[in-house]
Amino acid sequence: MPTSRELEFIQRIHAKLLAYLNRSNDKMVHPMNRVEDLLSRFDLSIEGSSDLEEIEFFIDEYIDSSVNTSSPRFYNQLFSGFSTMGYLGEAITGLTNNSMYTFEMSPMGTLMERTLIEKMSQLIGYKDGFGTFVPGGSNANLIAMLCARERACPNSRNSGLFSNIPLIGFVSEESHYSFLKAGYQAGIGIDNIRQVPCDGNGHMDIVKLEAMIELSIQNGEKPFFVGATAGTTVRGVFDPFEKIASICKELGMWYHIDGSWGGSALLSKKHRTLLRGSELSDSFTWCAHKMMGIPLMCTSIILKDKTLLKQVNSVPGTDYLFHGDDGEELDLGLHSLQCGRRVDSLKLWLAWKYFGDDGYEDRIDNLFSMAQHAELRINQSKILELLSPVESLNVCFRIQPPTVDEKKWNELTIMVRDRLIMNADTLVNHASINDKSCIRLITVNFDLTLDDIDEFMKNVEEIAQELANELSK
Ligand SMILES: Cc1ncc(COP(=O)(O)O)c(C=O)c1O
Repeated sequence: MPTSRELEFIQRIHAKLLAYLNRSNDKMVHPMNRVEDLLSRFDLSIEGSSDLEEIEFFIDEYIDSSVNTSSPRFYNQLFSGFSTMGYLGEAITGLTNNSMYTFEMSPMGTLMERTLIEKMSQLIGYKDGFGTFVPGGSNANLIAMLCARERACPNSRNSGLFSNIPLIGFVSEESHYSFLKAGYQAGIGIDNIRQVPCDGNGHMDIVKLEAMIELSIQNGEKPFFVGATAGTTVRGVFDPFEKIASICKELGMWYHIDGSWGGSALLSKKHRTLLRGSELSDSFTWCAHKMMGIPLMCTSIILKDKTLLKQVNSVPGTDYLFHGDDGEELDLGLHSLQCGRRVDSLKLWLAWKYFGDDGYEDRIDNLFSMAQHAELRINQSKILELLSPVESLNVCFRIQPPTVDEKKWNELTIMVRDRLIMNADTLVNHASINDKSCIRLITVNFDLTLDDIDEFMKNVEEIAQELANELSK
């Protein structure tokens, strides 16, 4: 238990956190920390004990030096913004410090997780699906691959993968790198996760997928897994799910959809058409810490076959924890790769309960409108060029003023990105599409307004023009 001095300390820090929330819009988005400055200002080594004043100093400095991801000028990642319920959920989760393995150890967390998984399953279109919360989209994609492996080579989780026939997985060349990591973690091998070329707009090319599977069969391999993407990391586009489903069905391959980024579009009647065919998949990754605005991490992996997770995760030696009295299937640890597990359901449950389905739908629709507005502004500009049609919240464009030599457009685009940080305290990432550098604007903050987007575009154009003038001198 905290001592009375520690309790006072907690109160003081809480007051500070509330003050932070009040002024978080003024806090710099990117405090431009340099590693040498941080290391020279702070002695981070741990040896003897410290007094509370010293600890408070480090708390202040930590907050000051952190990136302000709640600002509407933070466009850098696939998450942004502040969630009141998410924050409270995190605080209560830390305070109560329950663990998700058994109902006994996390009663409400277990029931909330079960409710959320049921709701998400229904939105995907699984009649009787089941799943678990995991520490992120990468981990969810790995679990999907492990389930696929078990389906393709029954009992390989016991005996290992020693067949001479290699298992082969297929993902698009624009899918997330976590599929490659899943490949080695699942014992498939990175080289056996084949990257299917995309069409000009970043969708998996189905004709090429079929040809690659065909070739693999001819070579005596065993194609077992296709990982499609709902919302690719750079362009935010959605693969053709129905077509992929029929290929997988015909060949008996596992069909996974990585909806880490775009899965939340299922909450919008207007935009859920992007996910048409999601119900045909075998498994689905969904990160609520991205488009649903929940603090990191908050991800679920959901499977159509409700028995498989338990089968894949069942090992001997667990009786010290699971005492065989789980008639109602409430000990969720039996379905998880983890033993101790944070309660990630509370923060999402609170936020969803607070907003309701309609509230979430409005917010997500608004995010799409923000991206469409940005697209419009780019199309109106004489010096900006959209690199890919906008399908969701990713707006990829580059700077290409006619007065500057085309060979310098890549360099100029990255220079504009860097100068946005310095001149406009705005953080946005850059990426590359077919060797063309672009600014990747992500409109995922629920607080964003049209004025924010206009301000962003104005800053981009002004900085781009300034740099273009310098370069064309
Ligand atoms: C499409 C996609 N899948 C998976 C991931 C990995 O998610 P996480 O960072 O939660 O592991 C990302 C991350 O951005 C992503 O964009």
